[in-house]
Amino acid sequence: ARQFFVGGNFKMNGSVETIKKIVGDLNKANLDPKTEVVVAPPALYLLLTREHLRAGIEVAAQNVFDKPNGAFTGEISVDQLRDSNITWTLLGHSERRVILQEDNTFVASKTKAAIDGGINVIFCCGESLEQRESNKTIDVVTAQLKAVKDKISDWSKIVVAYEPIWAIGTGKVASTEQAQEVHAALRAWLKKEVSDKAAEETRIIYGGSVSEKNCKELSKQPDIDGFLVGGASLKPAFVDIINSNL
Ligand code: 13P
Repeated sequence: ARQFFVGGNFKMNGSVETIKKIVGDLNKANLDPKTEVVVAPPALYLLLTREHLRAGIEVAAQNVFDKPNGAFTGEISVDQLRDSNITWTLLGHSERRVILQEDNTFVASKTKAAIDGGINVIFCCGESLEQRESNKTIDVVTAQLKAVKDKISDWSKIVVAYEPIWAIGTGKVASTEQAQEVHAALRAWLKKEVSDKAAEETRIIYGGSVSEKNCKELSKQPDIDGFLVGGASLKPAFVDIINSNL
């Protein structure tokens, strides 16, 4: 069975003080030992978070660059993450795809750089409301994955996060049926395009207005293997979401 996975994406939120508080609360909390937990603070606070967070909870960057080093002002490399004991990165978050104009090929190239350098990837995919309403959801998310498939063969270090853009930060969570339908389609795609093993073993997690109220029902769906949590990861509700299977 796939291990349940919950990620907390702090986005561009927090300060030295509030992140120490969040980390301290997580350190004290009773977390389901069966759930894998990863938190993604802003880059500036990665080291602080790693230093204060207890062992067993991993830390993720929110982004990483695809070149090893050099004149790339403002970017962070895969080696620098590894050097700082940061074992995961998010990639392809819709906020970066839309606001920072990252395309499928660039996101896939960064995914390859991370995997090749030993960093695990939470690979985000998802459709806009307009794409959903014109029945393009499955085309959009599989095209996002296809760009990765063209560059990598080992999927064991990837967690796929399905995050419909219209559900992010809106309070409008996807229905369990809507989420399960896309997760099942992503798994079917992995089976057809990658391997039986990748389909069986890859965690596919849901993100978009996940809360302590809606997490239990979503977590019962056969193809939902966890969550990527934004706003609620900054609050005590995050612990309830981590423990949604208890
Ligand atoms: P919210 O949980 O705030 O909707 O954000 C989801 C998200 O984008 C996580 O990456």
